[in-house]
Amino acid sequence: MTSPEYPLDVHAIRQQFPLLGRKVHGEKTLVYLDSAATTPKPQAVIDAVNRHYSLGTANVHRAAHELSEEATEAYEGARRSVSQFINASSSNEIIFTRSATEAVNLVANAWGPANLKPGDEILVTEMEHHANIVPWQLLESRLGVSLKFIPMNDHGVLEMDAFQSLLTDRTRLVAATWISNALGTVNPIEDIVSIAREAGAATLVDATQALPHRPVDVTGLGADFIVFSGHKMYAPTGIGCLWGREQLLEEMPPWQGGGDMIETVSFEKTTYNRLPWKFEAGTPHIAGAIGLGAAVNWLTDLGMANIATQESMLLGELAGTLSAIERVTLVGDPEHRAAAISFMVEGMHPHDVGAMLDKHGIAVRTGHHCAQPTMQHFKVPATVRASLGVFNNQSDIEALDKALRRVIEVFG
Ligand code: ALA
Repeated sequence: MTSPEYPLDVHAIRQQFPLLGRKVHGEKTLVYLDSAATTPKPQAVIDAVNRHYSLGTANVHRAAHELSEEATEAYEGARRSVSQFINASSSNEIIFTRSATEAVNLVANAWGPANLKPGDEILVTEMEHHANIVPWQLLESRLGVSLKFIPMNDHGVLEMDAFQSLLTDRTRLVAATWISNALGTVNPIEDIVSIAREAGAATLVDATQALPHRPVDVTGLGADFIVFSGHKMYAPTGIGCLWGREQLLEEMPPWQGGGDMIETVSFEKTTYNRLPWKFEAGTPHIAGAIGLGAAVNWLTDLGMANIATQESMLLGELAGTLSAIERVTLVGDPEHRAAAISFMVEGMHPHDVGAMLDKHGIAVRTGHHCAQPTMQHFKVPATVRASLGVFNNQSDIEALDKALRRVIEVFG
């Protein structure tokens, strides 16, 4: 039943996730609080992938037989679903990649050399995932560009004044995360994009942690590139996406070469395919894309605004619960936070806390969350991170509360 405060019927949603029905460590009920690492998959996604492999296996864009036509239609249909989901102006702007990481690398390797020269500057934030740092560092040595970072304060909030003063006439790209995977900070991405644009810089937004949690309108946002990952939004692993403005994508040279990204090949001259296939060399992850299409349709049926409201209420409860436990300190306390909270337990290593919670059936992530500069800012080697999905409920938070108190009492 829908509770009066919550817009979604979480009980019904939970029934759609087979994973949530399994036990861990013998008879412990699984409490899954690790969606920022990867989400469980709803039956609709599992069925779509299963259908493709059971009855629809064929390659795409390559044959006249019925199965290939069906697979092509399913694959391109998924692209149209993703395009609508983020309000792209055309499905030509949707490039399927292996991951958000690969999408950043595509921009770095195709847009980068064509648009950057020695002395140019790229700005990233201090709270980036490694996927939005290292590809740019690789360009530093290759192209002679330099990478600078927009600092954050101890609340885990970006210093917007510092951002403004870092912008120079050499700034060519601002690459920023929308929501920090390690802290849950929601950055003022509309402001970041418009300030960067005004300064004449291109913009890339890592929307990996935004897509599963709030409505995203890429046309309205006005960025140049957006990257995201399927497996953090209820789709399979191995599928991600680059959205880019069509004009920019048209102008960019291809990155990887191979089948499907070409129009004609001879030893003298090769010409390239149209968008979006120009950037999809080789047989793509057809089942993954179909799964991603099913995931965005599933999310659309629930309503992204409902999901945002629901998760924000639950996150408030999670923050309150954790803050009330003695010896627990939250890492960062941004006013705008979504989906994830990092914390430390005084006197205990995060890995020990995570391992002990696991024995109670609670799945959280411990580690540096692929965001070592964020850890360095807070002078911690790692944190414990609890992150939410649309299937989480108050019982999950109560279970974490109880288990964490027990862990601290027994081992702390
Ligand atoms: N980057 C993923 C996380 O935040 C794996 O856990």
